[in-house]
Amino acid sequence: MRPDETTSPPRVLVSAGPTHEPIDPVRFLGNRSTGRMGFALAAAVAERGALATLVAGPVALPTPVGVERCDVLTALEMRDAIYSRAGAVDLIIMAAAVADFRPRSALPRKFKKSEGVLRLELVPNPDILAGLDAVAPRALKVGFAAETEISDAEAEAKLERKGADFLVVNDVSRPDIGFAAADNEVTVYQRSGAKTFFARRPKDELAITLIDLFFSSLAQHHEVAVTTSLS
Ligand code: PMT
Repeated sequence: MRPDETTSPPRVLVSAGPTHEPIDPVRFLGNRSTGRMGFALAAAVAERGALATLVAGPVALPTPVGVERCDVLTALEMRDAIYSRAGAVDLIIMAAAVADFRPRSALPRKFKKSEGVLRLELVPNPDILAGLDAVAPRALKVGFAAETEISDAEAEAKLERKGADFLVVNDVSRPDIGFAAADNEVTVYQRSGAKTFFARRPKDELAITLIDLFFSSLAQHHEVAVTTSLS
């Protein structure tokens, strides 16, 4: 499909990186996400001439050219940053590794080792992706799934539970893909029932392929002008 005067380029929101859930002023609960996958996706959106906003957890990566960036620390901050922008975009991609739990309350001062056992009470964080329908009912929604093993039936159930149109599953037990790796290898499940495997390749190459797939779907369902390798 070619852009024309009656359509506008898609607006895309991408989340990337981990969240840090404070325990005290020097400690936090986190995970191994570096933000590479999400940053590659935001860069690919900009490369295709679309408008990309990146909501980034705490990572050490430069902002891709042409991308607007909002930095956050915790899952609650990420939820607020995403929900306040979600209603104005066509596509939302949740590549962030959002912490499922946070300490009920962070200690106001550093807990000393001499004080003995530190007991943490963890409360669940809101599921940002699952709550997107309420704030962005018409946006196309993409979830990523960090799995060590998953069946087709489990992936399809997760897609449904999360209210996503696409679920991109990567195997985070492998050191050569997933968390912190330069490459990724994924299986994409679609609401339509389609399932596509993308063999291992650099995350920036995979990002272009995935953005083309999502943009093709947008072009079919939304009044947006997309540019893909198929255009
Ligand atoms: O950042 P990198 O080092 O490049 O690594 C990339 C990655 C492995 C982090 C990425 O490819 C990936 O898999 N991201 C999703 C990780 C994850 O949180 O998976 P999950 O199965 O726990 O969550 C499923 C989906 O729900 C995700 O889209 C997640 O963003 C979303 N979620 C999860 C929990 C929560 N409280 N709110 C959410 O929105």
